[in-house]
Amino acid sequence: MFTRKLLNRRLFFCNIQFKQVRNVQVSVIGAGGEVGSNLSLLLKRNKKLQRLQLYDDDEKIIGTAMELSLLPGGPDVTAFAGDSNLNAAVRESDLVVMVQRVPRKPGNTREQMLAANAPALQRLCRAIADENPTAFFAIATNPLNSLVPFASALMYKYGTYNPFKVFGVTHIDTARARTYAANALHVSTKNLRVPVIGGHSEETIIPLFSNITPNEYNIDPCQADTLTRLLRKSGTEIVFQKQGCESAVLAIAWSVNEFCNTILDAICGEEVTVNSFIANPYFGTRFFSGPTTVGPYGIIRACQGFVYSDYESFLVNASVPVINNDVSIGENYIHYVE
Ligand code: LMR
Repeated sequence: MFTRKLLNRRLFFCNIQFKQVRNVQVSVIGAGGEVGSNLSLLLKRNKKLQRLQLYDDDEKIIGTAMELSLLPGGPDVTAFAGDSNLNAAVRESDLVVMVQRVPRKPGNTREQMLAANAPALQRLCRAIADENPTAFFAIATNPLNSLVPFASALMYKYGTYNPFKVFGVTHIDTARARTYAANALHVSTKNLRVPVIGGHSEETIIPLFSNITPNEYNIDPCQADTLTRLLRKSGTEIVFQKQGCESAVLAIAWSVNEFCNTILDAICGEEVTVNSFIANPYFGTRFFSGPTTVGPYGIIRACQGFVYSDYESFLVNASVPVINNDVSIGENYIHYVE
């Protein structure tokens, strides 16, 4: 009798767990672009997802969604095209992700992408504030250092800012740092971790090679300097190698998918770590990137308290004024879009 009761109870909780897992909905904003369509394809394979909402300004998104919805398995896919459907696109989603639509051209810095990407982000903030202010909100659009503060300032203005749920996705930097370190050490990337802090621009990406794990690995200061320079230049080098057609696409989709997949675990009740540019007061800036602990209700812990090498300490000090400037530019930009 007692055993059966216990079993029923276990089944009941399993069902709740199962329901939670199967009931998750994600909206991809900018899903018709190169990054967005690749990300959508990766998310279509995600078993934790029940529904995938794809939004773009252009009606072609209907075709992309149809392609994906005719593939067996995975989440149901629905298309939303045009401004008048933006609110519906974010309605009831647990996670809303905005990906880059206007690619960077050679000679342009990430900072110069602000005017190109801010208006679409403003419309999205308005839609989230009106329809779904409790959603996890992830921004994977450049310039990240300014657009995350820009979106946060807008959400604050709309009365719906929740700093524990707004993320700038910086998994691309941890992915590249791991790969550079693994290549230098001639080891596999499996289980290798390099925290990357700061921001997402050539002057603010700070890989902490001295904090590499497993800690039996050692990157010497000279290697750390070379790898940091390579990491900081990677995005620009890809733009150059693609001869002006676009910036990184597949790698960004891969890294944003890694972020989404981890956040889905948080939404389903686990405590997870993602690398993200978030409201973080511990470094002398209002926003800072780094390993962030997240649970079902949002951010639990922003990163702080690393032990730096002299070189890393120099990089952190040099990046703080740059990030502060980028943050102010983003916050002030709300006056240009409304
Ligand atoms: C990257 O790091 O590859 C992205 O930020 C895209 C870009 O424009 O560099």
